[in-house]
Amino acid sequence: MFFKHKNPYRLLTPGPVPLHPDVERALSEPMIHHRTPEFERCLKSVTTKLKETFATRESVFIHTATGSGAMESALVNTLSPGDEVLCIVSGKFGERWAEMASTFGLKTHLINVSWGEAVDPSVVEAELSKNKNIKAVLTQACETSTATVHPIRELGTIIKQRPQTLFMIDAITAVGAMMLEMDDWGLDVVIGGSQKAFMLPTGLSFIALSKKAWGFYESSTLPKFYWDLKREQKCLEKGETHFSSAVPLIRALDVALDHLTGQNKMKTLARIQTLAQATREAASHLGLTVYSKSPSPSVTALLTPPGVDSQKLRTHIEKEYNLTLMGGQEQLKGKILRVGHLGYITNEDMFALFDILYNSLRDFSLNAGEGYTLHRENLDSANEVLKKYLQ
Ligand SMILES: Cc1ncc(COP(=O)(O)O)c(C=O)c1O
Repeated sequence: MFFKHKNPYRLLTPGPVPLHPDVERALSEPMIHHRTPEFERCLKSVTTKLKETFATRESVFIHTATGSGAMESALVNTLSPGDEVLCIVSGKFGERWAEMASTFGLKTHLINVSWGEAVDPSVVEAELSKNKNIKAVLTQACETSTATVHPIRELGTIIKQRPQTLFMIDAITAVGAMMLEMDDWGLDVVIGGSQKAFMLPTGLSFIALSKKAWGFYESSTLPKFYWDLKREQKCLEKGETHFSSAVPLIRALDVALDHLTGQNKMKTLARIQTLAQATREAASHLGLTVYSKSPSPSVTALLTPPGVDSQKLRTHIEKEYNLTLMGGQEQLKGKILRVGHLGYITNEDMFALFDILYNSLRDFSLNAGEGYTLHRENLDSANEVLKKYLQ
């Protein structure tokens, strides 16, 4: 249906994201075996570039699994049944990690943060001072369900002073999309996902452990087999992955990482930031307000006007205009639209986004609250904002 539509298909979600054309080309190359010198060279190149992307001297491992697989790997490689963990829960993904931790027999303490807000580092500090048994603090860098970023650097400063506690970050919508300095900020476990800033299809996740976290590995007794990072480390030293490598994805990753490293690193981060700023400002001209109090560069959550159900709006946008955006989950269902800023997003995509938002909101305006009307001037103002940002 998407590719027979009168409009070109567009994907502006917080993951998966539009693929870079270089990535698409790499994905269509003929298959090779993973135990070959050719693939060994590729893996070596990828692991070097991943280290730069994560800003670490430690190994970054590739799991053939979605991001949740690496979240599980983080727990089983460092912790033991009954260990106490402090989970920062500020949305769906925080809830999921806490649930996963309980499933593995860890004792979870929760810091519940109001959705759309960043955690207050002093609250985390107070919890850690109260309970010296906490073995790990688990958080998202960007809670994708609310499009909110947490103060990772400040939290790192607090946690790195405690040798008995690890700082684990689900950075699935953060690594490659915003500054995140694993070694310098004292981050112990950092996790990324291929379908986000890496501009790849879904299917790979990445995980790196600090020296402190490797120390925890030695005493960790949670069962591990597929996720065992010590085995992966040994294989990586020989230029292999322990299990069959996802060759096409890893080859495409090699290409994608060129956009996230070297001189391109700052350019890519700046572009993502620009798309986010342009979206927030332009949206205000259509009566859409930014939901988060600590907005993320990776994704923007926009509150729809009173009377406009965001879930119905996103379905309408997809059907009529061939653009996929995300709605809200749980308490945000029907209230927000989420627009992603990661992947290969052109200026044309941005103008199309606002054109579509304007037209679809007009389609819905009969249902909107009193005083909400959109005129052509609203779109003109939004377009002026886009022109200012997107030279
Ligand atoms: C912050 C965050 N954590 C975890 C996940 C789960 O990743 P996956 O669906 O790749 O398992 C996502 C996916 O969107 C995410 O955004």
